[in-house]
Amino acid sequence: MDRPSGLSRTSRYLPTILLLVGVMLALAACSGSDGSDGSTGEAGAAGPAGEVGPAGPAGPAGEVSATDLTCTECHDEGTRIVSKQAQFHRSQHGSGGAYVRGGSASCAGCHGSEGAEARIEAGLVPRDEAVEGIINVSPYTCRTCHDIHTTYTEDDFSLTGDSAPAPMGVTASSFDGGAGNLCASCHQIRNELPVAVDGVIEFTTTRFGTHYGVEAQMLLGEGGLMVTGSPSEHYEKVDDTCVGCHMGENRDHTWVPDVDNCVSCHDDLESFDSRGVQTEIQELLVEAKALLVANGIMTEENRSIPGAYPEEVVSSMWNFMFVYSDSSDGVHNPDYAKALLEYVIENLG
Ligand code: HEC
Ligand code: HEC
Ligand code: HEC
Ligand code: HEC
Ligand code: HEC
Ligand code: HEC
Repeated sequence: MDRPSGLSRTSRYLPTILLLVGVMLALAACSGSDGSDGSTGEAGAAGPAGEVGPAGPAGPAGEVSATDLTCTECHDEGTRIVSKQAQFHRSQHGSGGAYVRGGSASCAGCHGSEGAEARIEAGLVPRDEAVEGIINVSPYTCRTCHDIHTTYTEDDFSLTGDSAPAPMGVTASSFDGGAGNLCASCHQIRNELPVAVDGVIEFTTTRFGTHYGVEAQMLLGEGGLMVTGSPSEHYEKVDDTCVGCHMGENRDHTWVPDVDNCVSCHDDLESFDSRGVQTEIQELLVEAKALLVANGIMTEENRSIPGAYPEEVVSSMWNFMFVYSDSSDGVHNPDYAKALLEYVIENLG
């Protein structure tokens, strides 16, 4: 059925209108010649509006293609997100409870999603004074490390902070190791390095030391006391540093390092204990700890005993806690880890 338009209705009545006009003109021509012309009458009122025509047919089917929605750059029939979520939930990042510390300003730069994400995005050190405690703090999620749901395109898998070099708070240096920079922005020494006055260092805390997660400075070969180190081969040579060993090429989100990620450089390596380095560091840790406990500065639980001690004794405890908290038994920087523990043994032994 054709849709009746206003135009076609007018044209339908056009012959009739023309006929009427013609008849009126003819009548006027026949009138008597002695009568004068009457004045033109007023225009009549507008006629009633015509009836609304019937609804037209539906237009051509509108085609909304799945490819028009940028959401499908990530949310599609594939399992990319699901598999990463499964790995993530098995990891310490995805299951640990330490995120609740993000409620306090001195911890929010690393613990909890909101404070850490905002701080890393802004390129600040962990304990910058702009960092605030978070009310209703969230555990880490994909959003902590990726820009999820920002542009709503695949670009949102970009890393928080875009892999800019990570500033190291207490050593005033910077970690520049590709995608590993994101890791280094949290896994760095937290507590201020102690300063000796007349060869003595005093503290009142039972938690003296570096805090957990000091890996960035271990790779850089700095952050220990009275021992000069240098950057690890693993900082200089491994692509994306932390990410290269802890996530590998398939970007495993459990963050458990895999020997498969070592063999490109260490042929036939079957355990992390290459050339017995981990075994050696474990033995040195046991020896160093016994000396610290014997010197009365540390308990069996690695807690400090408040007091004033000679600088060498305090530096020894700091260096022990540094290697212990690094948790790689020397892999991150074999030479530096060994030198730090040898310092303890030489000074307290
Ligand atoms: C960069 C890839 C990406 C794009 C593009 C994307 N999303 Fe997501 N989306 C994710 C990820 C990853 C999660 C899972 C978050 C988690 O596990 O915490 C998610 C989760 C969700 C959820 C579950 C609730 C939530 O917020 O966690 C909804 C709903 C959702 N997305 C809708 C959308 C819509 C609608 C669009 C497009 C307008 C979109 N997403 C675009 C990656 C993406
Ligand atoms: C936002 C800060 C932050 C970032 C970024 C971060 N981590 Fe962590 N990481 C933590 C915290 C905090 C824990 C401990 C979580 C808990 O126990 O609740 C942790 C735990 C871990 C663990 C487990 C340690 C254990 O004792 O089992 C590994 C391994 C690890 N991180 C490696 C990495 C790597 C590799 C990266 C970079 C891809 C990274 N982290 C990025 C803060 C961070
Ligand atoms: C420089 C970043 C940073 C800051 C600031 C920080 N932490 Fe942590 N913290 C970490 C990292 C990284 C880990 C995980 C280390 C690991 O498992 O190897 C961690 C681990 C912990 C753990 C142990 C979690 C576990 O499951 O074993 C506790 C408890 C903790 N932090 C408490 C705090 C408190 C309390 C504060 C504030 C006073 C704080 N942290 C500030 C980086 C930080
Ligand atoms: C602790 C930080 C961290 C968290 C949390 C995290 N990622 Fe990642 N993710 C990374 C890093 C680092 C990479 C490697 C980036 C690179 O190669 O440049 C990565 C890469 C990816 C990639 C691209 C690589 C690939 O295999 O396709 C995807 C997809 C991804 N992550 C999804 C997720 C999802 C989904 C979540 C939440 C369940 C998540 N990530 C949580 C750090 C994180
Ligand atoms: C050369 C490869 C390599 C690089 C680079 C590397 N790691 Fe490791 N990391 C390891 C190995 C191997 C271990 C020891 C695992 C074991 O003994 O079970 C380890 C241990 C750890 C642990 C303790 C895990 C646990 O279960 O207690 C954390 C946390 C960690 N690394 C974080 C990092 C961070 C953060 C970076 C970058 C700043 C980094 N690593 C760089 C290989 C590497
Ligand atoms: C990109 C190359 C590269 C990768 C990947 C790599 N390493 Fe190394 N690693 C080196 C280099 C170079 C040295 C220094 C060797 C030397 O001095 O002879 C080294 C030294 C070591 C040492 C000291 C003892 C030794 O064998 O020389 C250990 C332990 C070690 N690596 C463990 C690992 C582990 C475990 C992994 C995987 C989680 C790994 N490395 C991944 C390059 C790499």
